Amino acid sequence: MPMQPIAIQLIVEEHRAIANVLHVLQAVVDDARRGIAAPDFERLRAVLVYLDEMPARVHHASEGGLLFPLIRERCPALRPVLARLEAEHERVERIVRELGHALSAWQVMGEGRHEAFELLARTYVEMYLGHMKVEEGYVLPVAMDYLDEADWQKLAVAFEHQRGEQAQAALRKHRELYERIVAKPSVN
Ligand SMILES: [Fe+2]
Ligand SMILES: [Fe+2]
Repeated sequence: MPMQPIAIQLIVEEHRAIANVLHVLQAVVDDARRGIAAPDFERLRAVLVYLDEMPARVHHASEGGLLFPLIRERCPALRPVLARLEAEHERVERIVRELGHALSAWQVMGEGRHEAFELLARTYVEMYLGHMKVEEGYVLPVAMDYLDEADWQKLAVAFEHQRGEQAQAALRKHRELYERIVAKPSVN
């Protein structure tokens, strides 16, 4: 099997990291629901900061700004799917901000606001995992078929440029935050 293009490798790596953080969110919400642990608000905050910053500034920017436009050119049949995925980027970015508000309300106002946070969190996790599944199961394989070597070279340069010096510092911070989030085992 030929080496995967660097753009695909980065996207898949970022999906793994996002999915791991989504599973932490789910685990903390499950623990709080079962009453086996007091809600770990600090960890939830870290989770939401990560999910607010990393996808929007790095991952969605690469997909929507670099990869999708090229796929759109090479494979017009995929345009409706790509439009849906871009609408979902906006949607998950909006929901994660709403989750921040819902978390504050839960922390400040107490148990009466627990359920609202939980429902929104479950919707968000499900939507985001489904989104990445469509990208990995359908869009990336089609891209592998339709983009040629020159396209992948061009994308490699564009991805590297996008993750340039300034972005590297932010990426390092996101990586540190990620390590902090996934390091702590959930209670069960
Ligand atoms: Fe996406
Ligand atoms: Fe993605």
